[in-house]
Amino acid sequence: MWDVMSSGPAEPEPIRTAAERELADASTVAFPTIVADHLADDAPVEIAIEASKLHKRFGEFVAVHDVSFSVPKGKIVALLGPNGAGKTTTVNMLCTLLKPDGGSATVAGCDVADDAPGVRRAIMLTGQFAALDEALTGRENLILFGRLLGMTKKSAGVRADELLAEFGLTEAAGRRVGQYSGGMRRRIDIACGLVTKPEVVFLDEPTTGLDPRSRQDVWTVVEQLRDSGVTILLTTQYLEEADVLSDNIVVIDKGRVIAEGTSNELKAETGAAYCEITPSHPAYLPRLRARLRDMIGDAENSEPDALTVSVPAPDGPTTLAEVIRRTEAAKIPLADIALRRPSLDEVFLALTGDGSGSEADDRP
Ligand SMILES: Nc1ncnc2c1ncn2[C@@H]1O[C@H](COP(=O)(O)OP(=O)(O)O)[C@@H](O)[C@H]1O
Ligand SMILES: [Mg+2]
Repeated sequence: MWDVMSSGPAEPEPIRTAAERELADASTVAFPTIVADHLADDAPVEIAIEASKLHKRFGEFVAVHDVSFSVPKGKIVALLGPNGAGKTTTVNMLCTLLKPDGGSATVAGCDVADDAPGVRRAIMLTGQFAALDEALTGRENLILFGRLLGMTKKSAGVRADELLAEFGLTEAAGRRVGQYSGGMRRRIDIACGLVTKPEVVFLDEPTTGLDPRSRQDVWTVVEQLRDSGVTILLTTQYLEEADVLSDNIVVIDKGRVIAEGTSNELKAETGAAYCEITPSHPAYLPRLRARLRDMIGDAENSEPDALTVSVPAPDGPTTLAEVIRRTEAAKIPLADIALRRPSLDEVFLALTGDGSGSEADDRP
């Protein structure tokens, strides 16, 4: 049943047992069909954010160069790029905080140039102009926002309590925001933007500078937001964050979109899968290499003291099975054998050609 990749019209063996089903499922997960995501719904996709050749100059310097992408309604798209890539500039154009020098964009059906008030009614932006009052409690801040947005005292209070519960801040509700931890602050900041339920949310580096635990808390909040039907454009410097949270990733570097797709598509685009084989003892390595010589090809392991042998696995499980067949025939005991895809970090490196990014300094 491994022979699924062999050419010819032969039908694959039907799946009969639960164990076979499990195996089949496992290999489907490891090698997802790239187009399946898009074909899943046949309903027309509603677009919440559409950026078309957005362009922004600061003097002579082009910060954003013909950036185009779209975000379907109810999805999370990550704008992934190093510091200085043009993420905030792009977001600010979509939020109507900056006027594009070229191109166009719509947010929630409103044109950013012609209908800025319409855009502003539909969105919320966190991060940069957090107008939290440090001397007020979390709850008081939320109520203040509600009142500023025209809610009655009572409904602002109800909404504040809802949000505090949603964001895991009920216990901290009565504490002054000035005493909040970084993660709590980030959460109350996001919560303040949600007092009147926006259609589209822009999260500009919502976890930059947070410790891993707080980052996790913010991720949970973002996922809840998405599950409630809100469309999210998230910017991030963290590959893992884009991988975990987003339905689609737009990779941006030096003001240009350099790649776009799901994390699986990006991984597939920039590097094929490979099979990593670890013999039970390094002494077996020469024999193992000799047995797999033709499969290793030009991609011979460069590190002489590597404890594993890597084999390109364009056919996925078929390659894996062939390796197992050969090692068994040669009686080479294995400690481990695995099919691997490149990490998003490796993908980004491959896409940008270097790991340094636009501006070497990493924000804290
Ligand atoms: N108001 C501005 N005036 C001049 N240069 C700017 C301004 N805003 C941003 N830039 C420059 O544009 C580039 C992109 O910035 P930004 O969009 O903030 O990047 P990111 O959010 O991806 O870190 C950077 O090189 C930055 O220095
Ligand atoms: Mg930024």
